[in-house]
Amino acid sequence: MKRSLTLLTSVCMVFLLLLSVSGCASDKNKNAANTTDSSKKLKIGIVQIVEHPSLNTIRESLVQELAKEGFKDGEKISIDYQNAQGDQTNLKTICQKFANNNYDLIVAIATPSAQAAVGETKDIPIVFSACTDPLGSGLVSNLEKPGKNVTGTSDAVSAEKIMELAKRITPNIKTIGALYTSSETNSVSVVNNLKEYAQKNGLTVKEATVTNSSEVQQAASSLVGKVDVIFSPIDNTVASAMPVVAQVANRAKTPVYVGADSMVKDGGLATYGIDYTVLGQETAKMVAEILNGKKAGDIPVMTMSKMSIYVNKDTATAIGIKIPEDVLKEAKGL
Ligand code: TRP
Repeated sequence: MKRSLTLLTSVCMVFLLLLSVSGCASDKNKNAANTTDSSKKLKIGIVQIVEHPSLNTIRESLVQELAKEGFKDGEKISIDYQNAQGDQTNLKTICQKFANNNYDLIVAIATPSAQAAVGETKDIPIVFSACTDPLGSGLVSNLEKPGKNVTGTSDAVSAEKIMELAKRITPNIKTIGALYTSSETNSVSVVNNLKEYAQKNGLTVKEATVTNSSEVQQAASSLVGKVDVIFSPIDNTVASAMPVVAQVANRAKTPVYVGADSMVKDGGLATYGIDYTVLGQETAKMVAEILNGKKAGDIPVMTMSKMSIYVNKDTATAIGIKIPEDVLKEAKGL
């Protein structure tokens, strides 16, 4: 009895062993198939600094347009999308991985991502997307002829134009509160522009800077009551905490003028800004050109020139402001 049990056990074990060997073999085949498959696809790394509506719009529009250009994810290309969750160290790790694995192209959404990518590779083509000040941020040294391995799209805005709109809505402005992130060069350049405007027009700028999104609420609170309006540029950190800013400012009935439509949608009062769906499409066209053989450095940086007014009517009602009819007529829907 005991012997026949042992025999049965050994038979079972041999059977199991055979099963697992055949399993391994088929797994190996699968892997081999995968490797050959993905080595034919071009590897595109997308790096995004943080999760906020505008950057998500850009990415989605870019991926869609790439498919239209003949580069559908999973067919000719394979997209590896990574989000740094607002963390600088994550940005570096992500870009290092893209560079070490010899990706065919890197798309960097927003300035901090682009700066991290540029720091990791001098060979892999980098296409940046929505960088407010590509020159001041050290991404390229010439917008027309970037040279090297970098080009992209810019969402440069004018603090002056936004303030001109602010004056049409709330004419009595003497003190402007600038709310932004000190390490975002995209914001610093617009705030410098704001300071020049203020000086020319006899206005005062009071600054409240943050280093991460957890400081935004306190920074906004430090401004309300001391300024006539708050101004926040196209700042990724502030944008990711925009509902909090709106809450603080609306309670104090302080108008918030911002740099991007998504920040208006999330509670800001108004902006004069660009269409990020179009910017995403333009970025995709550059990516396609490069995948088709063009050198990144030979493609001029594209600055979006078409601007529109965006207004949040609910915010206006909440803070007791009437938006002039002529502004409303010019405004684009959110
Ligand atoms: N322009 C920003 C940068 O250079 C990125 C950005 C695009 C952005 N759309 C935005 C920031 C909307 C805040 C809100 O990094």
